[in-house]
Amino acid sequence: MTTGDWDAALYDAKHAFVFAYGSSLVELLAPRSGELILDVGCGTGHLTATIAHCGAQVVGLDLSPAMIEAARQHYPTLEWHVGDIRTFSYPQPFDAVFSNAALHWIPDAEGVAKALARLLKPGGRLALEMGGRGNVATLQAAVEAVLQEHLAITPTNPWYFPALGEYAALLETHGFEVQAAWLFERPTALEEGERGLRLWLEMFGSPLLGAVPTERREEILTAIEEKLRPVLFKEGRWELDYRRLRVLARRL
Ligand code: BEZ
Repeated sequence: MTTGDWDAALYDAKHAFVFAYGSSLVELLAPRSGELILDVGCGTGHLTATIAHCGAQVVGLDLSPAMIEAARQHYPTLEWHVGDIRTFSYPQPFDAVFSNAALHWIPDAEGVAKALARLLKPGGRLALEMGGRGNVATLQAAVEAVLQEHLAITPTNPWYFPALGEYAALLETHGFEVQAAWLFERPTALEEGERGLRLWLEMFGSPLLGAVPTERREEILTAIEEKLRPVLFKEGRWELDYRRLRVLARRL
């Protein structure tokens, strides 16, 4: 999302765990019939459609034109927008905002918190999940070590994975009351056996690997796999060290 666009087909075909895990976040949101709800970082729209099934009027927003195009094709009757939450505006305030696995792509967390407060009604609720402190830390450390050892490159960190207290304080500073928050380990098994880590890096890793010359790519991917194999390859599949931050808050 930070560089270039997403591969929506690869996302749907091989990374369905992103929205499969998100269905319990929809339960936390508890959408009601007639509510106006914004889904921030809606991707290919599957959770947006789950929310709409509860009778809510849902608006899906994503920075990626490819993701929104796929969402529109899957669910043509729902409302979709390409845009950045920080500058997004809508004619009416929302009853609730939902966001799954998206906000860690925007390091400007203060800009995001201000936008969430601006878009919600007083009393409106926020149900979000994102990577929390320590998310994919083993993977990120291995990628950084390999890039340093092989190419003397230090990639900039593309992700924002806050601690629970840090994120709760940020929301409180921007007009929210945090009602519940959890930081928990959620080891995440990847599809496609041996190829799973490469597919994940292809889908999500371009901000880390973007500076790798094409002719060195195979060498770098193999070195990352070999470094991580003893810790993250289990029973024939890769299992990433996901840690989730989940928050339920109310706009004051
Ligand atoms: C996540 O959902 O935690 C995540 C996805 C892609 C890159 C980094 C983190």
